[in-house]
Amino acid sequence: MTKIAPSILSANFSILKDEIEDVEKGGADYIHVDVMDGHFVPNITIGPLVVKAIRPITSLPLDVHLMIENPDKFIREFADAGADIITVHQETCPHLHRTIQSIKGAGVKAGVVINPATPAELIKPVLPDVDLVLLMTVNPGFGGQIFIPSVLAKIKTIATWRKEMNLSFEIEVDGGINPETAKLCKEAGVDVFVAGNAVFNKEDRKKAIASIRQA
Ligand code: DX5
Ligand code: ZN
Repeated sequence: MTKIAPSILSANFSILKDEIEDVEKGGADYIHVDVMDGHFVPNITIGPLVVKAIRPITSLPLDVHLMIENPDKFIREFADAGADIITVHQETCPHLHRTIQSIKGAGVKAGVVINPATPAELIKPVLPDVDLVLLMTVNPGFGGQIFIPSVLAKIKTIATWRKEMNLSFEIEVDGGINPETAKLCKEAGVDVFVAGNAVFNKEDRKKAIASIRQA
């Protein structure tokens, strides 16, 4: 099943509640929350306080994407704040199994993510342990960047491994997703589409979500 996860990074933060309600009514499946620390990525966004503030606004799962160094230090805080899925970058986790175990130990679903230039092989050992694999289709840090097509081959590899290993994690993509790039990703095996600009920069969010889903 195709799922759409609007990224609030592109929302109007002065009316965040209205923005989230709008995409929920518009058919969103997850709310994607981009957490950036100014170290792992060249931008600073939001932390557990905002996750806690939006938790009561929506019944949708909060899909929390941690673009931070030392994510282990903050897993408990994000889980307590109401995250449903916590996704960590392989590039920030020298003890990846341990980090994934600690996310699950906090009672939430665990995701692992790699940047466009990181080989799929580096997450193969943890595939049996995760609920979600996120493949970055831009280098993380900002909304509104251009989709990197070479990631498509990596999506296909992960989808093949999922089948061969008889696993059921979701495959998610993030960055530069619009109806055209979503179509390519869908064909490669993607289930969950994160979209910032392609949803929040459109007047009619319901239509924007539907056009990505139908792609
Ligand atoms: C990128 C973030 C994305 C971003 C996507 O660093 O992880 O979630 O908000 O934005 P768009 O869809 O505009 O590329
Ligand atoms: Zn993201």
